[in-house]
Amino acid sequence: MTHTVLVLNGPNLNLLGAREPATYGHETLADISQLCADTAAECGLTVEFRQTNREGELLDWIHQARGRCAAILINPAAWTHTSVAIRDALVASELPVIEVHLSNVHKREAFRHLSFVSPIAIGVICGLGSQGYRLALQYISHSLKG
Ligand code: DQA
Repeated sequence: MTHTVLVLNGPNLNLLGAREPATYGHETLADISQLCADTAAECGLTVEFRQTNREGELLDWIHQARGRCAAILINPAAWTHTSVAIRDALVASELPVIEVHLSNVHKREAFRHLSFVSPIAIGVICGLGSQGYRLALQYISHSLKG
């Protein structure tokens, strides 16, 4: 059985560290990637960590995870609030999905309160910064051990 978790990051997250640090903190995406790699090593998981600014590329990665990965951890960023296509691809993957946001989207603008992904995710973590990724991986490891 595979223990590979696909960790996906949506648009503008490549700018973390420089982008709105009051909202998203000072950590870079490379820092979060390292945190995920360290957590995966502790938990006996393998992580594939990716980011894209192209929605079609993200869709292709979700399609390719089907039957190959154990779970998908996704921060869809702005596509959270806009993309039926990403929601449908996640459903088609037939994999457990955890949605993560660095910021607490519910404390922010009303347009961030709607997520197309949350209704099909097994869980959602928001507002805990990069620790949300770590907690999600720990949960996936725990549930794979059954
Ligand atoms: C985000 C929240 C989204 O509303 C926003 O568009 C992002 C980042 C977060 O991690 O807090 O780009 O997903």
